[in-house]
Amino acid sequence: MPATIRLRQPDDWHVHLRDGAMLEAVVGATARQFGRAIVMPNLQPPITTVAAAQAYGERIRRALPAGSGFQPLLTAYLTETIDPREVEAGFRQGVWVACKLYPARATTNAEAGVGDLMAITPVLETMERIGMPLLIHGEVTDPEIDIFDREAVFIERHLAPLLQRHPGLKVVLEHITTSDAVDFVRSGPPQLAATITPHHLHINRNAMFRGGLRPDFYCLPVAKRELHRLALRAAATSGDPCFFLGTDSAPHARSAKESACGCAGIFNAPYAIESYAAVFEQEGALERLEAFASEHGPRFYGLPLNPGQIILERRPHAVDERLALTDAAGAPVELVPFHAGETLTWQLV
Ligand code: DOR
Ligand code: ZN
Repeated sequence: MPATIRLRQPDDWHVHLRDGAMLEAVVGATARQFGRAIVMPNLQPPITTVAAAQAYGERIRRALPAGSGFQPLLTAYLTETIDPREVEAGFRQGVWVACKLYPARATTNAEAGVGDLMAITPVLETMERIGMPLLIHGEVTDPEIDIFDREAVFIERHLAPLLQRHPGLKVVLEHITTSDAVDFVRSGPPQLAATITPHHLHINRNAMFRGGLRPDFYCLPVAKRELHRLALRAAATSGDPCFFLGTDSAPHARSAKESACGCAGIFNAPYAIESYAAVFEQEGALERLEAFASEHGPRFYGLPLNPGQIILERRPHAVDERLALTDAAGAPVELVPFHAGETLTWQLV
């Protein structure tokens, strides 16, 4: 059993950093571990213009701890009315690196998302031409479809036809949760990839109901049956370059999670790399953690690998039940971290 793990510095290819006080409270947790992160645009209002993205990037950089070299990689939020020229201009200027597709009303702040995929055909054609990745929240929103089937149905009804219509488009199916998604991505073309979160590697749907209703394990796409969790673990630890790290860390204040209509999202940023390391160790695949965390993502996005290193030590530590974070003005923000009350074996030094 190794006592330390040295890794090329990883990146997080899917994170929610939010804005304002929440941004100030959480950005340090991501910046401590990751060299770069793909930052989701589902703010209120969503990031749909180059100017809004530039301003958001500035706010992120201002919120970073002093001396941090962390680089936010911004994304555009696709609506049915976004102008393809705006998308292309922001990409060419290096302001944003990808577009995020939320099916309308699929999740937090997805009200302005896309109802009819055909309506964004011109944008997708532009992205295909300029090599700009499309990041997809892959769930149908049809209330007739069982929530546990929404990812698999999306793949069949929407993703497969979309890839046929746009064979050159780079696509990331985000935060996959099913063996259906694993199989689809693995057997797909090289320009198709998927991110996998730490929570979907650790929990199945029982976690939401263990001893009562547990809002801290509610996220979207919702965790599925055990067989799906096992398929995700096999995929993440397989060494296949089409699977890479994306935490989908999605902080909501504890009061917003623990309410009559609790928000979807798991805040895993504080111990994300430790959480992945636990999975890779349990699967006997620690030697493949670096490729998943630090190599497959940049290669897919056509970016250089990070030059730096991080070190994890075998040093069991308890995760706090609650984190009382403070924003830049000193105001408290209470969050429940993923793994609250558990002991993690690896610790980032
Ligand atoms: O659980 C989730 N939370 N899933 C998402 O797709 C969005 C995210 C959020 O922004 O809270
Ligand atoms: Zn997300």
